[in-house]
Amino acid sequence: MKIDLIAGARPNFMKIASIIDAIHAAQSKKKNIEYRLIHTGQHYDKNMSENFFTQLGIPHPHANLGAGGGSQSEQTAAIMIGYEKLLMTEKADLCLVVGDVNSTMACSIVAQKLHLSVAHVEAGIRSRDWTMPEEINRLVTDAITNFFFTTTPEAGEILKKSGVTEDRIFWVGNTMIDTLLKHRSKFQKPPIWDELNLHKNEYLVMTLHRPANVDEDEKLKVLIDELIYNCQGLPLIFPAHPRTAKILTKLGIDHENLHIIEPLGYLEFNYLVENARAVVTDSGGITEETTVMGIPCITLRNNTERPETVTIGTNELIGTDPAAIKPAMELLFSGNWKKGGIPELWDGKAGQRIVNTLISILNFK
Ligand code: UD1
Repeated sequence: MKIDLIAGARPNFMKIASIIDAIHAAQSKKKNIEYRLIHTGQHYDKNMSENFFTQLGIPHPHANLGAGGGSQSEQTAAIMIGYEKLLMTEKADLCLVVGDVNSTMACSIVAQKLHLSVAHVEAGIRSRDWTMPEEINRLVTDAITNFFFTTTPEAGEILKKSGVTEDRIFWVGNTMIDTLLKHRSKFQKPPIWDELNLHKNEYLVMTLHRPANVDEDEKLKVLIDELIYNCQGLPLIFPAHPRTAKILTKLGIDHENLHIIEPLGYLEFNYLVENARAVVTDSGGITEETTVMGIPCITLRNNTERPETVTIGTNELIGTDPAAIKPAMELLFSGNWKKGGIPELWDGKAGQRIVNTLISILNFK
């Protein structure tokens, strides 16, 4: 059995790493499972891609489609053309996609049209916000997926309501958390730690890249001003995504407490998060990691496809109105932020469950 594993953008790499580990473990037990790792090239900067491969011990991809940059459609089309060419030369039995990025949707379409089965890891989650490209990617991917691997029972319920039969849904846990738990003891101080003489609980980490937050210049400026004004003089460390970095440079945003740095490696970023007073973000994956590490997380979004990070974890959605920052910060500094718990099956074994399931369904189908 040969599986194509698709990884294209930063949040894919930590999700795929644990599946690769589990495949290697199955191979060492002489199971009949092979894989080909395909990097679509959606993210191409060294610190958005290559560094993750090195730190997480992900093998060199078998193919890189070089499909980064461009508009949503240009990027999606380039990935589809590249993957189709590859499949025309050498087919696989199954295409496994993770998450909700353009690479996820593009490759699942190509695979299904060439009659490969598709497995989707992190299936069934929904923000219900069709202005987010990720939501479109989730909907399209799940409409043509054969095997659905879910992080929560709620995601399975969403799939069932959309007509997916129960025998194709597998609640396995969270492969992003597999990677977090595996590498937690190896987190590393980033250079900024000593440069700023940072101390545990005495700084905040911030990440922002969603169009709703960064594409309107004036709004972004007000958001950042509010954060600086309300963070009680603590440094705000902001590893900026390339799209945000470009906008910040253009706006000339500058303050002595705001430290805009390049995107960090996985081990360095999570070291900063694990020791921070709180994280302010509009990412989805980071809300899962802060939940597991028990770090308060303030999410600048109106919705989330990961409600368990709010109902069980340490995350609060405060929306994108800058006026919501002050009360959230007051709650944080009052020391009454919720403690949170960890969702069931987020235990470091999701990758193993996925691979065991694939071996059983594909070999005995
Ligand atoms: C993508 C994902 C998003 C994820 C984010 C994390 C989609 C629809 N979105 O958004 O879910 O949270 O990654 O990082 O797939 N760029 C660079 N260097 C890079 C990568 C991108 O300069 O290494 C530039 C691109 O050329 C583009 C912009 O950043 O101008 C956005 O990149 P893109 O891949 O389109 O989406 P992201 O915003 O990164």
